[in-house]
Amino acid sequence: MTANPLGVGIIGTGRISDLHALEYLANPGARIVALCDRDTGQAQARARGWGIPDVAVEDDIDRLLARPDVDLVEILLPHHLHLPVALRAMDAGKIISLQKPMCLDLAEADRLVEAAESHDRPVKIFENFIFYPPVLKARELIDAGAIGTPLSIRIKSNPARSATAWDVPASANAWRQERDHAGGGPLVFDDGHHKFALAWHFMGDPEEVHAFIGETEVAGGMRIDAPAMISFRFPGNRIGNLEIVHSPEMELATRYYAQDDRVEITGSAGVIFVNGGHGRLGTTPPVTLYRDGTITQYDVASGWEQSFILSTRHFIDAIRDGRPPVLTARQGRQVLRFALAAEQSAREGRAIRLSA
Ligand SMILES: NC(=O)c1ccc[n+]([C@@H]2O[C@H](COP(=O)([O-])OP(=O)(O)OC[C@H]3O[C@@H](n4cnc5c(N)ncnc54)[C@H](O)[C@@H]3O)[C@@H](O)[C@H]2O)c1
Repeated sequence: MTANPLGVGIIGTGRISDLHALEYLANPGARIVALCDRDTGQAQARARGWGIPDVAVEDDIDRLLARPDVDLVEILLPHHLHLPVALRAMDAGKIISLQKPMCLDLAEADRLVEAAESHDRPVKIFENFIFYPPVLKARELIDAGAIGTPLSIRIKSNPARSATAWDVPASANAWRQERDHAGGGPLVFDDGHHKFALAWHFMGDPEEVHAFIGETEVAGGMRIDAPAMISFRFPGNRIGNLEIVHSPEMELATRYYAQDDRVEITGSAGVIFVNGGHGRLGTTPPVTLYRDGTITQYDVASGWEQSFILSTRHFIDAIRDGRPPVLTARQGRQVLRFALAAEQSAREGRAIRLSA
């Protein structure tokens, strides 16, 4: 453990900040020392909700970056602000955790990778799904040979409705409707980042991506990029797909976004199912393995908040141990490239081939 806890400054205290705060509030290796949001009333309300009512609140990002008590910044802003704020945070000498997607396009990503790799402090692109306990369990089983060689990954994002979902303010949806703020659609590009990260995590970089991305108007006049079907091919005759379908009358259980996520990985000798993510369909087991005529169910923790807790804990440990974080800026670029290839494929109506 570091002698002094890392001083953490959270930039952007919107919807998702509640889940980022959890581990920083609990881990003796870190301490939240300042919050920054242009909506200071909201930041103060978060501070009270997190039990740190006296924490400093700034309304200006540069003032937060100038604070000597802030060692690490957690950047939780709309996507068009990711690159400029991350670069300014590097100039200010901070350790950085930058929410996915790292930025809007590959030109921006290249600037960020170059800056991150010459920065003398750690830079993490925050991705949580690969730290979700059922995903960690699936990875452990695959690494132990449970399904033989993984040959295909099938991922499903299924937004629905839920009486127990958390409130998402209209402001958090509004910027996601603007391409120049969000960089792409809310389901394929924004939430989709997690799904491309999962595909990359289990199968590596794709060599071909082909996408159909539809559009549906939902309550409040919001447009979502569903239904969508994105298929990919990986080196070695391995394949995968991401299907996104909106089920407006399907009720599901969640404390977060009203969405179910499912993953099925087929190997040369068996199949693994990861059920759930943001939410759950009933009491499906979080992880199921089929092998040699036998079904084995694994009851690991499956609250979605665990993915944030473990991703943040991983970063605090990596900083302490001098190890690179997951995702590095270069890994974040690979996931972004995957997502952008899907957008490009749908736009141009053709398969996109990616070099190694
Ligand atoms: N990992 C996940 O599963 C996950 C889930 C949701 C959101 N996210 C990511 O988190 C980030 C934030 O998303 P959100 O849903 O919390 O959005 P949000 O709109 O709720 O929060 C963004 C906050 O940034 C503040 N802000 C905007 N411009 C600012 C500026 N110039 N100076 C200071 N504050 C400013 C806003 O006032 C708002 O409070 C995005 O990158 C999003 O993709 C990740």
